Amino acid sequence: MSTPHIQAEIGEIAKTILMPGDPLRAKHLVETYLENVKPFNSVRNMLGYTGTFKGKEISIMGSGMGMPSIGIYSYELYSQYNVNNIIRIGSAGSYVKEVKLYDVVLADSAYSESTYAMVQSGYQKNITFPSEELNAAILKKSQELNLNIHTSCIHSSDVFYMEGDNNYKELVDKYNCSCVEMESFALFHNARVLGKKAACLLTISDSFITHEVISAEARQKSFDAMMKLALETSIE
Ligand code: ADE
Repeated sequence: MSTPHIQAEIGEIAKTILMPGDPLRAKHLVETYLENVKPFNSVRNMLGYTGTFKGKEISIMGSGMGMPSIGIYSYELYSQYNVNNIIRIGSAGSYVKEVKLYDVVLADSAYSESTYAMVQSGYQKNITFPSEELNAAILKKSQELNLNIHTSCIHSSDVFYMEGDNNYKELVDKYNCSCVEMESFALFHNARVLGKKAACLLTISDSFITHEVISAEARQKSFDAMMKLALETSIE
């Protein structure tokens, strides 16, 4: 059995999967945190692995960048591989001064200008939502781990390089978006139409307020707190 984009056999992918955007980050996280690791995908180098964390089976796979990419992988994982929970673990640019570099944000909704949900199933609104159950579990675990996280609406954008960046202030005022990434609106939509669960945790890698950007190396390390939170939540 395989899909156009995933070569795994049924049963090789865990019920819960963590998805960073970058497949090499997926590989690094697997090597750092998981035991009993088995690779299940290398189609288009979108590396995916299943292993165990504290004895519980979990998978980690790259999602690629942008809504078309995560839209394809999450749809195939949910609909063909019986995956129940996808937690995106990504990076984001901060829109507000309270959300600083290295902070962790849990999305409670995703606003987007994207036509993804409308084209996919006729969904007309600009906001999609994560699983309340997954979010509650993540929040509870963050308290147990003494990890301060922000919970807010996020902006899922189709555009990384914009002419000017003033548009973001409107999204802060109108929708309370605290930061921008490029995937969650589509992920949340797929979960909803397929009756599955999704959540999104983000580490702030750059700021629209201060124009600071963290280095690729620091980005790797800064993923640690978010990663531990996602892994610990997934063993509940
Ligand atoms: N991911 C990290 N930083 C981002 C930004 N500035 N825009 C969109 N996605 C991002």
